[in-house]
Amino acid sequence: MNLLDPDFWLDPYPVFAELRAEAPVLWHDDVKLWSVARHDDVMRISRDPATFCSGKGVLPTDRERDVSGAESILFLDPPDHARYRKLVSPAFTPRRIAALEARVRDLARQLLDPISKGDTVDVAPAIAEPLPMLVIAEMLGVPAEDRGRFKVWSDAMIEAATSPSDAAYSLALELWEYFASRIDARRQEPADDLISVLAHATVDGEALTNAELNGFCMTLLVAGNETTRNLITGGIEALAHHPDQLRRLVADRSLVPTAVDEMLRWVTPVMNFARTAATDVDLGGERVEAGQMVFMLYGSANRDADAFGPSADTFDVGRQPNPHVSFGFGEHYCMGASLARLEARVLFDELLQRFSTVELAGEPERLRSVLMRGLVHLPVTLN
Ligand code: HEM
Repeated sequence: MNLLDPDFWLDPYPVFAELRAEAPVLWHDDVKLWSVARHDDVMRISRDPATFCSGKGVLPTDRERDVSGAESILFLDPPDHARYRKLVSPAFTPRRIAALEARVRDLARQLLDPISKGDTVDVAPAIAEPLPMLVIAEMLGVPAEDRGRFKVWSDAMIEAATSPSDAAYSLALELWEYFASRIDARRQEPADDLISVLAHATVDGEALTNAELNGFCMTLLVAGNETTRNLITGGIEALAHHPDQLRRLVADRSLVPTAVDEMLRWVTPVMNFARTAATDVDLGGERVEAGQMVFMLYGSANRDADAFGPSADTFDVGRQPNPHVSFGFGEHYCMGASLARLEARVLFDELLQRFSTVELAGEPERLRSVLMRGLVHLPVTLN
């Protein structure tokens, strides 16, 4: 098993079960990483950023470069993290997220309306890709005339984060310049958008610098786009594979919120994040040395029977409670969790009002990635 081989991630679940049972914390000398397979150990790491820090990176590939807190909130440790997080949190208050619901519903309807009963559609490009991208553009206040360019930039950000190329970097630079001009404009003339809120946020008299604010806008594109896309495709695939659960949902759409959380657990769109031990520490009976990286296997934690009981391997749209770790846990808990839940809830609510069966209409094409569990193509017939 090579943890950094994308092929391993195509179906890691049998190995995860073995790891949880036999070697919950295991050193992989080939890639110089500890894998952490159990739910309680993942929680323990996530709630202790002083011992397990993010400042040296959150992906194994971050070890090949110098990461810095200036690049993203993801790399900040206490106390800097708390200051920054306080400054950006006004963008994600429950009121601001709830206010987006009507607009998210409009966008979901626009994407679903062209599809008729009996149609076969590749839902990845038709629904799952555009929805989160349009929602983020909406939040940031990107005007309609810039949306075409914004899509190109946002695709380039995803590419730059996963398979960097010169072309992707130069597009990322264009986006940086674009945001810089929006930030200048919003500092002078605020509007009802996230850039305006963040440009005017202060904590103890301190505000975000232009570079911090720009960096945060870039982070949102990476953090909020492909993740939500993969939740939607993975959720649709799960319904296609579990027609009994789909029937339950169609009969009772009040189950959509618990279904969305079960999709989050089942799919685990972000399969792992890493931390670096700041000191020598005992974990799951093993001695982790300072400077070594621990790799939290969220997908494994999400199938741990100690946390989810004997039905851990069953897809259950009514599951409650559902303590999945798909949004992480502790200090770095996903800031976009309620937005991602809102998008998925509205999308599935609209989908199930229109269609009551979902059948695979071809072989889904899985994304080859160590980090993301996703589908590039998912042809389905909707009825
Ligand atoms: C299904 C969709 C999503 C999943 C599975 C997801 C997953 C995650 C995870 C696992 C983390 C924890 C990172 C860590 O512990 O190092 C995280 C952090 C974060 N997410 Fe999400 N995310 C999703 C959607 C979004 C959206 C829609 C946004 C915003 C538009 C967003 C913004 C963020 C930000 C800003 C952080 C950093 C928080 C911090 O470091 O304090 N995410 N996300």
